[in-house]
Formats: sequence, C-alpha cells, structure tokens
Amino acid sequence: MANPTSTVTEYWDRYASGVTAESDLDAAFGWTQWEHHGPGRELLGEPETALELGCGRGIAVAALSRAGVKAEGIDVSPIQVEQARNQWEPLGAQFHQGEAMEFLRGTGQVWDAIYSVWAAVWFCDPHELLPLVHDRIRPGGRLVFSHAEPVPGTSGPQGMYGAGFRGRRVWLHQWAATPDEWEQLLHSAGFAHAHVWVEPAPQTDHVGTLIGTATRRHT
Ligand SMILES: C[S@@+](CC[C@H](N)C(=O)[O-])C[C@H]1O[C@@H](n2cnc3c(N)ncnc32)[C@H](O)[C@@H]1O
Repeated sequence: MANPTSTVTEYWDRYASGVTAESDLDAAFGWTQWEHHGPGRELLGEPETALELGCGRGIAVAALSRAGVKAEGIDVSPIQVEQARNQWEPLGAQFHQGEAMEFLRGTGQVWDAIYSVWAAVWFCDPHELLPLVHDRIRPGGRLVFSHAEPVPGTSGPQGMYGAGFRGRRVWLHQWAATPDEWEQLLHSAGFAHAHVWVEPAPQTDHVGTLIGTATRRHT
C-alpha cells in the first residue's frame, strides 16, 4: 500500500512517538545521535533565554526549562507541538507551531541563544535562514546547531521523497556543506567566531555529527 503522507507537515508528524520521563531530561540533551556522547548544553553558554528551531517533542527545550532557562521551541509539526505542550508546558517551557523562517520573520523578539538539533538549520536554505537567525540573537549571544556530517562530494540542497518512492511527491531538502563552507556561510550572515567541526562517532567508520557554533557580534 502507498505511504499516506501527502504533505511535508505530515512527514514530520510521523516523528511524534515515544514519551520521555522528566527524570531523563538532563541526559536527553545532546547534539549527536547517541546518548552521552559529544558536547552538551555548555555550547550554548549561559543563556537566560533560548529558542530551539525544530524542537520536535520538545525534550531539549524542557531540559533547559528545568535548568532555569526561559526556553521556547518552534516546530512545523502540529502533532509534535501538541505533545510537547501537554508534557512540558507545566515546567514553564513554551512551544509555537509553524515554519521556522516564517516564525523568525514575524517576531521582534531576541534570544540569548538560538539552536537546532538535527532540525531546521538542516532543512532550510542557510542563505535565507542564517541572516534571520542572526537578527533574532542578542549581541554577544550564540547560534548552535548539529546534524549528520555531509556525504563526501555533496554540497548544497539534497532532495528527499518524504512519502517514499511509491508515495505522493512530497519533497524535502536538507543542506549539505563542509565545516569550512558552513563557517563561510555563518560569516556571510554577519556572525563572528564561527566554529564548525565533525564530532566523530563513538565507533570508527560510523557517521559523525557536524556541530556549528557562532556568536552575534557586540555592536
Ligand atoms: C529529526 S527531527 C529533530 C527533532 C528534535 N530537535 C530532536 O532532536 O529530537 C527534525 C524536526 O525539525 C522540524 N522541522 C523541519 N523543518 C522545519 C522548519 N522549516 N521549521 C520548523 N520545524 C522544522 C520537524 O518537524 C522535526 O520535528
């Protein structure tokens, strides 16, 4: 039978599964695809306010809220956002439903840190997204993001069929760039101190994680 997914939003709704206990939140915050591997939330500095782009079920936002940060998340998937609100709003976490770039264009708010864990920074055109993010970070604040390391020889938008090859034409793009290319993109968007690297996997020959950090200059 064909995959019933017919929109990009429905594709992401399929990620709404599993429940994380509040007691597991601290261990749940991470940048890589493995638990207890790689750097943790220290990459964000010590923000008082933070926004996650593509927060999914809101686990990282909830972990920051529990640590005393005024944390918010935005995600395009209504089902995941509903799940996040039901589970984590009692901790003080706040969630918005919508597309990250539209959200950033429509707000005048600024945050100490904006971050993305395998999410919107991977799935939006960085030429459009990074200047929007830059303008919504307070001077001296940070952008941090992570996703899979690029497949060698790829650069730019990589297309995917969200409903598989027997389904409707649901197009998604994720961006591939080397650490050097990411640093150039970040500097072109106005960021300072851009540092992008590939965090190796726990096992040799396994897929690493590209992690990027950058700072908005003090004016
Ligand atoms: C692989 S999941 C990661 C979710 C979460 N950050 C985590 O680590 O569990 C990618 C998430 O990004 C969201 N997403 C993708 N593109 C987006 C966009 N342009 N605006 C907002 N959310 C987006 C999806 O709905 C999905 O929840």
